[in-house]
Amino acid sequence: MNQVAQHYAERGRLLDRIAEGLARTGKTLDGATTGDLAPVDEFHIRGRKATLELAEGLRLSASSRVLDLGSGLGGPARTLAEVHGCHVTGIDLTPEFCEVATVLSDRIGLSDRVTFIEGDATDLPFGDATFDAAMTIHVAMNIAAKHRLYAEARRVLKPGGRFAVYDIMQGDGGDILYPVPWARDAAISFVVPPDEVEALLIAAGFKVLERRDSSEESIAWFKALADESARNGPPPLSLAAILGEGRKEMVRNQVVNLAERRTRTVAFLCEA
Ligand SMILES: C[S@@+](CC[C@H](N)C(=O)[O-])C[C@H]1O[C@@H](n2cnc3c(N)ncnc32)[C@H](O)[C@@H]1O
Repeated sequence: MNQVAQHYAERGRLLDRIAEGLARTGKTLDGATTGDLAPVDEFHIRGRKATLELAEGLRLSASSRVLDLGSGLGGPARTLAEVHGCHVTGIDLTPEFCEVATVLSDRIGLSDRVTFIEGDATDLPFGDATFDAAMTIHVAMNIAAKHRLYAEARRVLKPGGRFAVYDIMQGDGGDILYPVPWARDAAISFVVPPDEVEALLIAAGFKVLERRDSSEESIAWFKALADESARNGPPPLSLAAILGEGRKEMVRNQVVNLAERRTRTVAFLCEA
């Protein structure tokens, strides 16, 4: 298995862990909403709120066909399908994530509007100009060949289609402290500054419409989670279910990296 997929797959028993966490909130998978699952299946900083913000720029309607590059457990795809009524195809390198994404979608009644495929976002199995919109959330940190990721996104988008990119990028505060949720060490981490991402997007043929640094909101989001945990104990359902061994250190470094400007959270809205 690819080293990146291996990193994300190492926890195992994902569906059971998610169902157990959900049960602690008094809910079951059947009948759960995307909002109920968001604490665990929106696998990025600022969770569901960030996904909804990104979607605002994508000009979605019920007839839109959307591609999610690096779709993980499928939370962002399901959120867009539920809120905008569109169809979302997710592609991800990690086999268990694709399987769990499919089962979760079925159980919560969204299987007619989302499809998950195992594959590499830098080599898409789709024809040119297939999709009306695309997004990628917290994925490029694991991809060295970002030029291929963005070129593929551009190729499969229809002319004028929107592309939203939301990733952790390199800041000016020094080297990243590891482990972090996307990598135990630098071997599978390919984080670059926002200026480099912008240049790559332009080189891939995109017009950059907007660039937004949300790092201060990200720091506030982590603080709110920590305050809530200090008051009421660990949340019943959270990313802890999927982060695996050493998750406390991963989260601590994620917060320190942001606070010390070693990383930034940045989103781009582009047009093909
Ligand atoms: C931090 S998770 C984010 C998942 C999802 N975008 C979300 O926000 O909930 C990163 C995901 O990127 C996937 N990934 C990394 N490199 C990839 C590649 N080259 N092609 C497809 N997926 C990839 C991993 O398997 C993992 O599911």
